[in-house]
Amino acid sequence: MASHIGKRFETERAKAGLEDWLQHRNAKTFPFEEVMNEYHSVGKHFVDADVLARLAEVRSHIATVPGPWQDVQVLASFLDTALDKHDDRYDYPTYLALNVLQLPAHNDPVEHAPFARARFDRLRAQLVCDLLDYELTVIDGLTTSLPQLRPSADVVDKRIHLAVRLMRPFFTRLGLDGSLTATDTIELARQMVEAVRDDMSDSEKRTLELSILPVYTAHDEYLFLRVLQSFETTFALIALQLRGALTALANRDAGQAAHYLSDSAAALREAGLLFSMLATMQVESFQTFRNYTEGASAIQSRNYKILESLCRTPDADRIDSLAYYSVPEVRERILAGNHTLDDAFVEACSSGQLSADEIGAVHAGMEAMSDAILRWRKTHLSLAVRMLGEQTGTGSTEGTPYLAHVRDIPVFESAEPAAPRTCPFAKKTAAQRNSPIAMSA
Ligand code: HEM
Repeated sequence: MASHIGKRFETERAKAGLEDWLQHRNAKTFPFEEVMNEYHSVGKHFVDADVLARLAEVRSHIATVPGPWQDVQVLASFLDTALDKHDDRYDYPTYLALNVLQLPAHNDPVEHAPFARARFDRLRAQLVCDLLDYELTVIDGLTTSLPQLRPSADVVDKRIHLAVRLMRPFFTRLGLDGSLTATDTIELARQMVEAVRDDMSDSEKRTLELSILPVYTAHDEYLFLRVLQSFETTFALIALQLRGALTALANRDAGQAAHYLSDSAAALREAGLLFSMLATMQVESFQTFRNYTEGASAIQSRNYKILESLCRTPDADRIDSLAYYSVPEVRERILAGNHTLDDAFVEACSSGQLSADEIGAVHAGMEAMSDAILRWRKTHLSLAVRMLGEQTGTGSTEGTPYLAHVRDIPVFESAEPAAPRTCPFAKKTAAQRNSPIAMSA
């Protein structure tokens, strides 16, 4: 009964806020708080029809809404996410509010690659600390948001421990670890949340607040969304860095190419703890909210498919399968002609402009990347088996059999452990001049 009254109250507040806004229409004064409260009180799948109609009306005025350009942009991105189900175009990018988050995008100029890591560290620290903040606020009894299926104290404790472990290296790299003095993990988590929040601009805070629109009201969906977003951030970083590696190889800058490859592998390995965190999601919870996520599947992750196809051109049967039909613009780019690290590596080897040591360094980077992706796929499959069992996926595949089928697809041709590791065209160092180049394992 109480939640019913709460629901109506949030709905009425959102409607009133929107009505009022429609009279004045300024991007700076949009009632985000009221609208978010409505979404969080019922879940995106159940938002009141009148609220949705008013949001659609807001959107119809977006081209003429006065206010700072950045505020108009934020409002437009938010509406894109908030109205996806209403418009019947709900999918993985809108579920994750990727438009709102503005990840380091795959179509960023490659010149941004050197700065991508710092941007990514910052955003991922914000995403995970926001999850910590949510869990701590629930522990403190300060929120009634997403009240269904609360996990036990033990489960939350484990989740927080894992998040704190995951965050440690980020704090060191971001230079924020001076503020971490607590020895108790929960206290440490509080310090992390505070340090990250103190370091955020108002616009970053708003982005974070608007980027969480669960489809239902189960506690664990917060974790699910933040983990998916954190992985997407990682994929976006890697996609940009792999493009950086491609350019570096074209410029015969092997050191730079090797750096991007090994840093990408490290980023993906480090993200492994996100899977451990997600493994604390209650199966019952996942099974409940996934009733409303049909149509949104990570098979639609553009960044994942971009990074995969930057390594090597996928086989024809994969290009002509749901794997790539689910990301049509990536598929089209591949069909239009795909330049891969595989191609670039062979080309750089053949040029005779790289020494054996340089080739060895790039090769080692490719091996590290391959290893990290294969491990990622293996862990993903285990988690999916646990959470999903034998059910079909939300991306129209048969579920885990699909994942088992794609798990061992080679990441590169030219850097697989079994592939030859010699390059007859490489520039020889003095020590190697009289013997064939062979890079030992
Ligand atoms: C509860 C946890 C998860 C389950 C049960 C699960 C299940 C699945 C299933 C069944 C598929 C096949 C496509 C489909 O029909 O949906 C899939 C694909 C995929 N998932 Fe997950 N997943 C989980 C977590 C994650 C996470 C955290 C990520 C990170 C972004 C992720 C990324 C992917 C990617 C990139 C694909 C496409 C793989 C490909 O096409 O080769 N998944 N997942």
